[in-house]
Amino acid sequence: MSDPQKLYEGKAKILYPTDDPQILVAYFKDDATAFNAAKRGSIQRKGEINCTLSARLFQMLESRGIPTHFIDCIAADRMRVRSLNIFPLEVVVRNIAAGSLCKQTGLPLGTVLKNPLVEFFYKNDALGDPLLTRDRLLLLELATPQQVDRLREMALEIDRLLVEFFASCQITLVDFKLEFGLDEAGQIVLADEISPDTCRLWNQLETDPNRRVLDKDRFRQDLGDVEAAYEQVLSRVLSAIN
Ligand code: TMP
Ligand code: ASP
Repeated sequence: MSDPQKLYEGKAKILYPTDDPQILVAYFKDDATAFNAAKRGSIQRKGEINCTLSARLFQMLESRGIPTHFIDCIAADRMRVRSLNIFPLEVVVRNIAAGSLCKQTGLPLGTVLKNPLVEFFYKNDALGDPLLTRDRLLLLELATPQQVDRLREMALEIDRLLVEFFASCQITLVDFKLEFGLDEAGQIVLADEISPDTCRLWNQLETDPNRRVLDKDRFRQDLGDVEAAYEQVLSRVLSAIN
């Protein structure tokens, strides 16, 4: 059934307007998709877990000087966020080789990168979210050169903070995807979510390459125990923060 009020529906979230044009409500769904929605399913309690995790991580990042769109949670699976002009970019940071990096370069899974790698993908479902070069990004005018530099700088700072935070939960942050937007003053602000849907997270207490996976790869690769992995990340993050 269609919801006449919604502003935007993505694969994992729905955005609703509020009385204040500067504020939106993000509703986190239990729906899970992979491979540009070729694979579909649902992960029990995912909406609540991803909303709670994102809220805590956004608060942690804000306290360390990263501007985020997060305002507050109004339900377990709903948060108020600032309305932004979102860049059609997925900014991926990698610390360890996995996923499309291994597929496209032949680097073995688990290769520790000497320096974090920042990559920009074009957020465009019809084109399959292709990897962009800097020149292609500028050609398409998806951001200015100054904005690209700032996005890269912010992504690396967020990586530094998240690697350290997840390490305190005995979790290795392998890689993750960020989205950013511009506020009315032209400031770049972190948006979207930070969750096991958008990060690769490996349990440091497990060495087995399948058992260590605590993120959406369990769903993508049919590894089983998806819900338990999401619950595990939530409980470790909440005990590290509280
Ligand atoms: P990749 O290895 O498939 O390029 O994914 C890199 C990171 O980005 C990984 O942590 C998963 C995340 N990601 C998303 O959040 N959304 C996506 O649509 C894709 C493809 C990856
Ligand atoms: N969320 C993306 C999709 O369905 C892909 C992924 O996370 O693997 O298409």
